[in-house]
Amino acid sequence: MRTTILQIKDMKQKGKKIPMLTAYDYATAKLIDAAGIPLILVGDSLGTVILGYDSTIPVTMDVMIHHTKAVVRGTEQALIIGDMPFMTYASTGEALRNAARFMQEAGAQAVKLEGGVTTADTVRRIVDCGIPVMGHIGLTPQSVHQLGGFKVQGKTPESALRLVKDACALDEAGAFAIVLEAVPTPLARIITKKVSVPTIGIGAGPFCDGQVQVVSDMLGLFTDFVPKHAKQYARLSEAIKQAVGEYASEVQAGAFPTDKQSFTMDESLLAGLEQEL
Ligand code: KIV
Repeated sequence: MRTTILQIKDMKQKGKKIPMLTAYDYATAKLIDAAGIPLILVGDSLGTVILGYDSTIPVTMDVMIHHTKAVVRGTEQALIIGDMPFMTYASTGEALRNAARFMQEAGAQAVKLEGGVTTADTVRRIVDCGIPVMGHIGLTPQSVHQLGGFKVQGKTPESALRLVKDACALDEAGAFAIVLEAVPTPLARIITKKVSVPTIGIGAGPFCDGQVQVVSDMLGLFTDFVPKHAKQYARLSEAIKQAVGEYASEVQAGAFPTDKQSFTMDESLLAGLEQEL
C-alpha cells in the first residue's frame, strides 16, 4: 500500500519530519523505496542531472511520462509525484490534461507545479478533479530567467511577504504540501507555522516539516558542482570511477572474465563439432 496524502498531512500534525527524494529511473527508485522514503518526486531536475541540459526548461511532458513510468514500476510504498514541466500548465485546460497524463499514463499519485498566487487557481482546478497537488515556491527553476538566476528568494521585506502570500494561496487552493526552495531559514519557519499543510524544504533550513534533496546531489554523483543546500551522504562518483577503471584494467590484462563469469558445454558435443570443422 502506497503512502497517502492524508498520511503526509498527518505527519505535520504529529511533528514527524518528512524525508523526500527525487528519482528518475527504475533501479534508483527501487532502492529509495526499499529504504522507506515516503515521497518520491520525479523532478524536472532530470533535465540537468540526467539529460545534461543547463536548465529544466527543455524538459517535455513525454520525457517526464517516460521517467515517471519507470519510477512507478520500481516502487511499491512511496507516493510518486510527477513534476509538471515548463509551460505545461500555463492554461487551466493544458494543466488538467497534463496532470491527467501523469495519473493515467504514468501511474503517479500526485503532481507538482511551480508558482504561488499566480498558479493557485490552476491548483484548485486540478485538486477539484481529484488529483493531489504539491506546490513549489521560492526559487522556482522554471522561472530562472525571470528571477535573474538561481538566487535565494525572499530576502527583502516585499519578497518575503510575497512568499508568505504565495504559500497561503496554495494552502487555500488545496495543495497537500508545499516545496520551499532557497528560502532563508527564519522565513521558511514563519511559512511553516502559517500554513496547514507540510512544507518541504530544499535550502530552506531545518524548521520545514520535511526535506527534499536531488538524489544525485546526496549520493555524490557529481564532483564539479555541489549546491550549497546539498549534503553528500555518499561519494558515488569516486566509487563508480574506481570500479570502471578496475574493469577496464582487468579486460585489458585478460583477467576478466574468468571461468566464474563464463559458460561450459558438453565436451563430447565439442569434440563432434571440432571433427566437423
Ligand atoms: O525538479 C526537482 O527536482 C525539484 C526539487 C528540487 C524540489 O523541483
